[in-house]
Amino acid sequence: MGAVQLTGVRKLFGQMEVIKGVDLTVADGELVVFVGPSGCGKSTLLRMIAGLEDVDYGDIRIAGADVTELAPARRGVAMVFQNYALYPHMTAYDNLAYGLRRAGMARADVDARVQEAAVLLQITELLPRRPKAMSGGQRQRVAIGRAIVRKPEVFLFDEPLSNLDASLRVEMRSQIARLHHDLKATMIFVTHDQVEAMTLADRIVVLNAGRVEQVGTPREVYHNPANLFVAGFIGSPAMNLIPAMAGQGGLTLPWGTQLPWPKPALAGPVTLGLRPDRLSLVPQARAQASGQVTLVEHLGDESILHVRLDTGASLTIKAPGDVQVRLGDVAHIGFDLTSAVLFGPDGRVLT
Ligand SMILES: Nc1ncnc2c1ncn2[C@@H]1O[C@H](COP(=O)(O)OP(=O)(O)OP(=O)(O)O)[C@@H](O)[C@H]1O
Ligand SMILES: [Mg+2]
Repeated sequence: MGAVQLTGVRKLFGQMEVIKGVDLTVADGELVVFVGPSGCGKSTLLRMIAGLEDVDYGDIRIAGADVTELAPARRGVAMVFQNYALYPHMTAYDNLAYGLRRAGMARADVDARVQEAAVLLQITELLPRRPKAMSGGQRQRVAIGRAIVRKPEVFLFDEPLSNLDASLRVEMRSQIARLHHDLKATMIFVTHDQVEAMTLADRIVVLNAGRVEQVGTPREVYHNPANLFVAGFIGSPAMNLIPAMAGQGGLTLPWGTQLPWPKPALAGPVTLGLRPDRLSLVPQARAQASGQVTLVEHLGDESILHVRLDTGASLTIKAPGDVQVRLGDVAHIGFDLTSAVLFGPDGRVLT
């Protein structure tokens, strides 16, 4: 199995630099998830590791060996694509066996590998079928099987679950977690799904416009975001980011409310970050902000309230599912500052 090491990796498409100097080490056996907005370079970075895109600057090492100039087939990686990319005219068995046969592997060895992967993925009974006679989840398992039979050092998954419905996603997510546990392989997984990222990852890499904004465990990127971008990107609903003035041991909010801030603060403009579950409805006398409810989302065991303040700013509150609030009500909001984070004018967290 292999660690993956990127050093100063850059990629240009024509004049446009889409990967702007990425340094990253994925440990042997680690499951790392890439997240970031659409177009930030997740797929490109993955394809560069796979050898499907050239590296313009920097180098890529897998299991210690420089693979920057190596052909994809010789890197010890296998990639699983969002659209499965199965051969439609072949059975699942042949889809799994194809690459091994082409590499000249003996028939009995091919069969052993295919059967082993099929057991692992519980697709043995699907082996005689063609892709069109399978569900999305079954196709996706075959696509993963095609990666497994190659016994790669590194698995690369580019949004492999995004075509599946919600319940299948959850099932496949746990399959991938189990697979990672069983194979103890290094895995890099791209997803748009926050829950997928938080539940699968040993570490999350947050990408933005071709740069790494933060690398950390799910807990770290959630509780200790390095900057405003990560704070706003990780977590759903998003963190409330409130402009404030720091000074004299406290914060002044745009609507005049004063908040104590225990840490010796600098003076000047800052941004206060508060997760929606740190805001609650309180009696007016204890409120730090008040405004009009503009949206109530009932999600069962919780309700998300959107409140517009007089300043025009909007706050998001995670309230209990049975909260008695209607559109247009005036809401008085209390802040729990215990896990609040403060960002400086440059967007970086203040420690
Ligand atoms: N072959 C290409 N030629 C030119 N530009 C490209 C090419 N492939 C990707 N790009 C551009 O590079 C940037 C990064 O694309 P990439 O596909 O890596 O984003 P992504 O983070 O995977 O996005 P998504 O979440 O939508 O899949 C985008 O601006 C994209 O338009
Ligand atoms: Mg992509």
